[in-house]
Amino acid sequence: MNINKSSQISKFYKKTLKDRQEVVKDWIDDENDFLTLTQDQADNMIENVIGLYGLPFAVSTNFLINGEEYLIPIVIEEPSVVAALSFAAKLFREGGGFNTSSDKPEMIGQIQILDCPNINNALKQITIEKEVLLEEVNNLGGSIVKRGGGAKDFEIRQFNTDQLGEILIVHLIYDCRDAMGANAVNTAVEYLAPKLEQITRGRVNLRILSNLTDRRIARAEGVVLADSLTTDEMSGSEVVQSIIEAGVFAEIDPYRATTHNKGIMNGIDGVLIATGNDWRAVEAGAHAFAVRSGTYSSLTKWRRDSQGNLRGSIELPLSVGIVGGATRVHPMAQLALKILGVSSAQELAEVIATVGLAQNFAAIRALATDGIQKGHMRMHARQLAAAAGAPLEAIPLLVETMVAEGAIRLERAKQLLENWNEEH
Ligand code: MEV
Repeated sequence: MNINKSSQISKFYKKTLKDRQEVVKDWIDDENDFLTLTQDQADNMIENVIGLYGLPFAVSTNFLINGEEYLIPIVIEEPSVVAALSFAAKLFREGGGFNTSSDKPEMIGQIQILDCPNINNALKQITIEKEVLLEEVNNLGGSIVKRGGGAKDFEIRQFNTDQLGEILIVHLIYDCRDAMGANAVNTAVEYLAPKLEQITRGRVNLRILSNLTDRRIARAEGVVLADSLTTDEMSGSEVVQSIIEAGVFAEIDPYRATTHNKGIMNGIDGVLIATGNDWRAVEAGAHAFAVRSGTYSSLTKWRRDSQGNLRGSIELPLSVGIVGGATRVHPMAQLALKILGVSSAQELAEVIATVGLAQNFAAIRALATDGIQKGHMRMHARQLAAAAGAPLEAIPLLVETMVAEGAIRLERAKQLLENWNEEH
């Protein structure tokens, strides 16, 4: 968040890239250039590096969350997502902005124990030794424990399987504070494994965190005024109804829910990548959470409120960090966190949930009214104009002509470019 500025930046999309950078530098009070990852830094991040892979880094405007102003950094290759977010945030702002909440940043580490000679004894012993073991884990130290996090509890789950007989799954509940926490949790469960073998006289197989981080849920909600949804063809109230119908479609039908949630993840992944977070972990958790009732369903809910306006809400597991991992190494991830101005992993999770809700609203509003192709094709035309080799100053004319003709094809972009070249 930024306490001194508004994220409602007039005609931000019409500014040049350089001017947008100036706005963002001013927002974060930083004169530094936008330095991206170097090959040397990349070489220290993963194995066998041969180069870098670039993606567009953008910001979405207009976000008002819990009464605070946010610019949202997004890294994505798909056109329309960034613009749709800014548009959605503008409408939610008119309805009072977004409100959010989240759970403590608790992760689950799993330890699989097999071949216990006496399951009841094993269960009893784990309970007796629990406090000592938790303390031992926390004595391993580390910055998370220093900040008040660390091992908090055990949960024990028991499975009776045809293939392997009785299995105990011990869940270590670990508060990760401002880290995503994968390393800390995995270190802790690897430490506990031999201790639990001794106590239970069983055998440990896997010890690894769970990506179904359902103790680490973030929630966001907000209202869009019916009046602001009016189109040339539909009243605001009709659009509210169409959006609710779209939302219920995704609540009841997994085929639709998958696409609906994909749209949500368009926004969420964009912020996760921008901030150097593990988007595969969040994706896995989000989809597992979406199927928790036994039927894969929507991550959002859309309803009409007592004033006839549209109320949307989202909840999903969001295991994210603002320290450690790529967030520390990648200069653009540092920049993204600075733009967001978040001071805790929970705040970041809540902002990300908000982005998911806003993205979903924008997608289903478009689908329930004009369809998405109209907006999409303009950006597609820009990509084609660029692919045809058009210089920057020629692109607007090529785009407008292709859109007006409804002929958004590379061949047409090339022809138009030839004409343009002859005239210039
Ligand atoms: C496209 O990337 C995402 C949408 O398909 C989402 C949706 O259908 O809700 C537009």
